[in-house]
Amino acid sequence: MNAKQAAGYRAAEWVEDGMIVGLGTGSTAYYAIEKIGLRVAEGLKIKAIATSKASEELAAKYDIPLIKSSEVKRLDIAIDGADEVDPDMALIKGGGGALLREKLVAINSDRFIVIADIGKMVARLGQFKLPIEIVPFCYEWTLEQLRNRYDIDFAMRMRDGGLYVTDNGNYIADAAFGSIEFPAQLSHELKMMTGVVDHGLFVDIAQTVVVGYDDGRTEVI
Ligand code: 5RP
Repeated sequence: MNAKQAAGYRAAEWVEDGMIVGLGTGSTAYYAIEKIGLRVAEGLKIKAIATSKASEELAAKYDIPLIKSSEVKRLDIAIDGADEVDPDMALIKGGGGALLREKLVAINSDRFIVIADIGKMVARLGQFKLPIEIVPFCYEWTLEQLRNRYDIDFAMRMRDGGLYVTDNGNYIADAAFGSIEFPAQLSHELKMMTGVVDHGLFVDIAQTVVVGYDDGRTEVI
């Protein structure tokens, strides 16, 4: 069992009968979904909302019943990966491009559990490029606004020779902050910018972090 699988499988143990579950996105969330799916096959009764088309397909493969947001007011639990986790449980997320749906699901869950291999634990956020989801309309101006404000490198995310398009039809600019001293302040500033839909800083959202180690051990913070 590798570190990601250890963390994903451990977090899946928190899921109980009757819960509405938010399913994250990425290679660590993959294992949580897999384990939840195996438990569903053994009789666990839950309903779920997925944070990406990829996770929706994975859930369907494991016969995890998916519902629409109109069918529930809140989720009991959400389990998702992260690109960086700091000692205050502030996160950078969105490496897989699903940050907006992930944040919506996380903030509307009673408990948000982050699953991370030990390599994701950092003293300060910012080495991982911060994904910022921006609207396609006049995106060059939004990019320019960001560059003028922060004087760092912002690169439009690309895929297959074109601009990367999120499940929500938006673009992503990856920001090389290097070191983020005040994540809450930056989170607020970015959110206030016209053209920015949301960004991958998750501050004061996670309640639990499950850290996975290469030897299969886990630690719950
Ligand atoms: C996707 C995410 C992922 O949770 C994050 O990128 C971590 O991915 P992985 O578990 O593959 O390392 O935020 O948008």
